[in-house]
Amino acid sequence: MDLQDLLTFTIDLSLEVGQLLRDGFRQSKEIEYKSSAIDPVTQFDKAAEALIVGRIIERYPSHAIVAEEGNNRQGSDASPNGRLRWFVDPIDGTVNFAHGFPHFSVSLGLYEGNKPIVGVVYDPMRDECFYASAGDGAFLRHDGQSTPLAVSKTDTLLHSVLATGFPYDKHSSSVDNLKQTAVFLKKSQGLRRAGSAALDLAYVASGRTDGYWEYKLNSWDYGAGVLLVLEAGGKVTMIDGSPVVPLPKGDLLVSNGRLHPLMQETLNAI
Ligand code: IPD
Ligand code: CA
Ligand code: CA
Repeated sequence: MDLQDLLTFTIDLSLEVGQLLRDGFRQSKEIEYKSSAIDPVTQFDKAAEALIVGRIIERYPSHAIVAEEGNNRQGSDASPNGRLRWFVDPIDGTVNFAHGFPHFSVSLGLYEGNKPIVGVVYDPMRDECFYASAGDGAFLRHDGQSTPLAVSKTDTLLHSVLATGFPYDKHSSSVDNLKQTAVFLKKSQGLRRAGSAALDLAYVASGRTDGYWEYKLNSWDYGAGVLLVLEAGGKVTMIDGSPVVPLPKGDLLVSNGRLHPLMQETLNAI
């Protein structure tokens, strides 16, 4: 398996999809709702996913695919470490995209079993492509130039900028992250809810934020971002401290490493 080839393919694909989304951003959107009355999907989510899945099948016909809008494939390729599986989020931040709020991303992660080996998160509106392959570090490519990513060195909550997000069942579920948000809002320098989990992970990898947590994420939300953070020297676990694996409805804790115990203690105490 040639990781460099896989990475180049994934970066190129994210840029191609990014163009489709930049074009779609100013057009009118046909909005339908999925898991709840606040969980939207547009024609551009569907078109982007069709493009991504088509390209993967063309190039890697034996790989498995887990894709948010339902274009899943079982795959037949297994390495000694497990299946080769893509986690695809064609637009991470659809609420933002649908409202014309220019913060969303394409998220493409490739796993070998439960191990991330390639991760690319592309923000088309800023032309920021965050990418990593296992063992080779994480980078940000902007304007054709790549620079290495590194997590921050912040070691107190009081001086940290944190990020979080809320599940689409927040209006009907008691696991709504409200108490946790209130506590971290008080304890930190700043708390952000920007609306794209994949970029939330990429921003921890870049040192723009120091930590991030969210409940009930899907594997396609964090599949790519996990590798960015690990390769940038940060830490990712499930909120209960167990190792991160691609799950439907995973509770994720992400940090620069130094803040991990403090964030975990805080969450456990609530
Ligand atoms: C959502 C975004 C959001 C997060 C939600 C996700 P979508 O993904 O990542 O930031 O808070 O939990 O579901 O629906 O825009 O792909
Ligand atoms: Ca998502
Ligand atoms: Ca999505």
